[in-house]
Amino acid sequence: GITRHYKFDIKLHNVTRLCHTKSIVSVNGQFPGPRIVAREGDQLLIKVVNHVSNNISIHWHGIRQLRSGWADGPAYVTQCPIQKGQSYVYNFTIVGQRGTLFWHAHISWLRATVYGPMVILPKHGVPYPFAKPYKEVPIIFGEWFNADPEEVISQALQTGGGPNVSDAYTINGLPGPLYKCSTEDTFKLKVKPGKTYLLRLINAALNDELFFSIANHTLTVVEVDAIYVKPFETETLLITPGQTTNVLIKTKPGYPSATFFMTARPYVTGQGTFDNSTVAAILEYESPPNSVHSSSSMLPLFKPILPALNDTFFATNFASKLCSLASAQFPANVPQKVDKHFLFTVGLGTSPCQQNQTCQGPNGTKLAASVNNVSFAMPTTALLQAHFFGQSNGVYTPDFPSSPIIPFNYAGIPPNNTMVGNGTKVVVLPFNTTVELVMQDTSILGAESHPLHLHGFNFFVVGQGFGNFDTNKDPAKFNLVDPIERNTVGVPSGGWVAIRFQADNPGVWFMHCHLEVHTSWGLKMAWIVLDGKLPNQKLLPPPADLPKC
Ligand code: C2O
Repeated sequence: GITRHYKFDIKLHNVTRLCHTKSIVSVNGQFPGPRIVAREGDQLLIKVVNHVSNNISIHWHGIRQLRSGWADGPAYVTQCPIQKGQSYVYNFTIVGQRGTLFWHAHISWLRATVYGPMVILPKHGVPYPFAKPYKEVPIIFGEWFNADPEEVISQALQTGGGPNVSDAYTINGLPGPLYKCSTEDTFKLKVKPGKTYLLRLINAALNDELFFSIANHTLTVVEVDAIYVKPFETETLLITPGQTTNVLIKTKPGYPSATFFMTARPYVTGQGTFDNSTVAAILEYESPPNSVHSSSSMLPLFKPILPALNDTFFATNFASKLCSLASAQFPANVPQKVDKHFLFTVGLGTSPCQQNQTCQGPNGTKLAASVNNVSFAMPTTALLQAHFFGQSNGVYTPDFPSSPIIPFNYAGIPPNNTMVGNGTKVVVLPFNTTVELVMQDTSILGAESHPLHLHGFNFFVVGQGFGNFDTNKDPAKFNLVDPIERNTVGVPSGGWVAIRFQADNPGVWFMHCHLEVHTSWGLKMAWIVLDGKLPNQKLLPPPADLPKC
């Protein structure tokens, strides 16, 4: 591989959307941010210089960061944030990965405007496991707030209630013609007839899982989270925040005198308010040679039909179609034996309001979210530093529960998540432990799907189901042959998902719901993986420019 240099200047930038101009935190004055392109095996040196008053850090979502955890990016987990006037070089090598990923700010809600695509091409001379597409196009979904997202979340945390929702979804930063004032702000994909296009879909939205479809065009799914899958066709797909999905589309032969909508809108099963609007982009065929009028002046006639808002049947069915390619060249190395079993409840709940606070959550409580009834408290220094220098005292405790503290039962008494505790608790794993983790949804505020993201690893999704996970019956049905491998998985609404991974990457690895509001409420925890015995099994020492808290 080669070394590639990028520079990210974090600065303010004026952007107008929905007839509303505001100053946003941006990278290099671009929105969405710049595209990073590299090849498997390359080293990346990305210098991030902070010119704004917000503290910042950048996460390379889905990059494994083998032994280079210092470059992972979540603030107060692997690094202290980069303060105004400071800079930090993210230094990492892409080992054994190729595909679509993305990068985003990983502090507070800055990811609302600070995000961009990451395209990792295969090594020179290594083809895709499908015919080479005519063109490749990143399609990145986001969420636009007219208000300042930082104020939206800080106000919500102060009052204990839910935050204001976004005003639009976006495709490549643009809301599209179904929103007011936005006809000009529409992403158009100009295509030639009879060709195959690879769309690299990325969900960078803050708080919403999205259905996506293109009118009159079938999507062939070939990759998720930078892992090749057994290709399958679908009219619609579901993509959660933190997930990426590569699809092939074949354009129609001839020159259809029409344009086609591509649309996305949310999948929501929980209660509360959310943005139920639709983002549209346009697939526009090039006009035939010598034609006088172009089709581009009219809105498309054809609009895809998306599943109902709460279509969990679609979500489950779609998830069940995803299998690893599991070929000789791209094997699925599913751990066959398990060293440690964990059962985590994940969900929303409430916690008591502090004295002299007026909380706007249910019955005067405040909204909280937890894993095994622990609402994670962010430390004020980085966990990885504390771990590496042996200074865990007062920063974290290694006592994260391996199973729920409060019992729950879907079939009987509703799960009780009204008394979650706070803590900075972690699980400590010896190097190379094979882990099986079952995550069970337990929301008291209505069952809700949670896209759980694990840093530092890909995991295999060996099973999923509804109701209570049954330790006696369900493991017998696990797929240990070709389960999908990924970095973010939707814990089914009212159900569970089982994953396996091998803890072969020493460091401190964050795991959290990729719905940002749930992370803000505490649906997060961290794993510490200890060094192995061999020199190449140890975390590298911290770089000299690592920011200080
Ligand atoms: Cu894409 Cu911890 O995040």
